[in-house]
Amino acid sequence: MSISILDVKNLNVFFRTQRQRLHAVRGIDFKLHAGETLGIVGESGCGKSAMAKALVQLIPRHHADLSGEIWYGEKNLASYSERQMQTVRGKEIGMIFQDPMTSLNPTMRIGKQIVEGYLRHYPEVSPKSAWSYAIDMLHMVGIPNPEERMLDYPHTLSGGMRQRVMIAIALACKPKLILADEPTTALDVTIQAQILDLMKDIQTKTQTSIVLITHDLSVVAKCCDRVLVMYAGKVVESATVDQLFSNPQHPYTQRLLQAIPRLDKCKTDPLIPIEGTPPNLSLPLASCGFCARCPFAMRICKEQSPPLFHLGEEHLSACFKHDPRMAP
Ligand SMILES: Nc1ncnc2c1ncn2[C@@H]1O[C@H](COP(=O)(O)OP(=O)(O)O)[C@@H](O)[C@H]1O
Ligand SMILES: [Mg+2]
Repeated sequence: MSISILDVKNLNVFFRTQRQRLHAVRGIDFKLHAGETLGIVGESGCGKSAMAKALVQLIPRHHADLSGEIWYGEKNLASYSERQMQTVRGKEIGMIFQDPMTSLNPTMRIGKQIVEGYLRHYPEVSPKSAWSYAIDMLHMVGIPNPEERMLDYPHTLSGGMRQRVMIAIALACKPKLILADEPTTALDVTIQAQILDLMKDIQTKTQTSIVLITHDLSVVAKCCDRVLVMYAGKVVESATVDQLFSNPQHPYTQRLLQAIPRLDKCKTDPLIPIEGTPPNLSLPLASCGFCARCPFAMRICKEQSPPLFHLGEEHLSACFKHDPRMAP
């Protein structure tokens, strides 16, 4: 039995806007095993970022209601105060986001940004050792001439280099877990591959656990051990990467897999877009969220919300076709 580093139970996020209350994350349960990379995949707007932010309480409370449990070892982060969370963010759980320009301070040299983050969590280290440690970190993430780059401002670096700096900042505090939300989406394909290789390499070396959020199944195939497929705020399928690609079970996952271009197929093959739109998240859902788009929808799919059915070790799917009552 593998050890879980994170055990999330019945996580819900409601955003409060002027006109409505949006149920963006709808009762999510999952475990993250030590040392694994867990992919979270789903269309834009399905609640991936809201879920990731909720894990580290980065959603302002005046703006949203959260419920559920977030067990990080013996600690339930859901009950932590902002002050307690400040000791967790960065040091225990590192974060890498899509756009480094919004996360990096544009007015501060990158060396200083790495050093400050590190010293905040490791105040016993001397500034001089912290400086040389920061150089080592830049070296580790593949930045050439790191001594000189320490003095650069973020805007002088390319997008790929900035994302490497973000990774260096996240790694510098030696977190046990990294939340990476679309870390390569803003980058071109070649740089994206380099950054993913880098993350994989670092993960092997440091045994850090990673939650990797993406809307791109090829990123999942390349980097992840296990994957959760999210749809309309819920997990609809959970599987190992091998299971997901060889034996996808949820109709939404099957459609997602059909929609990715395949290199082994004829170039003129049209991509299959998924027709229809996801349900309105401001309304409660008494049916399967996917039934309006599902070619296999049955009557029960419109009347009840399917639970996750266990199909085997590590493989779950929220579709009534797995319900033993539906057996012909
Ligand atoms: N700060 C916010 N205030 C109100 N609604 C939000 C906020 N952030 C996200 N949402 C809504 O919550 C839903 C999930 O968004 P998000 O988690 O960003 O999706 P994803 O990361 O999967 O693209 C969307 O309908 C989005 O419009
Ligand atoms: Mg997002």
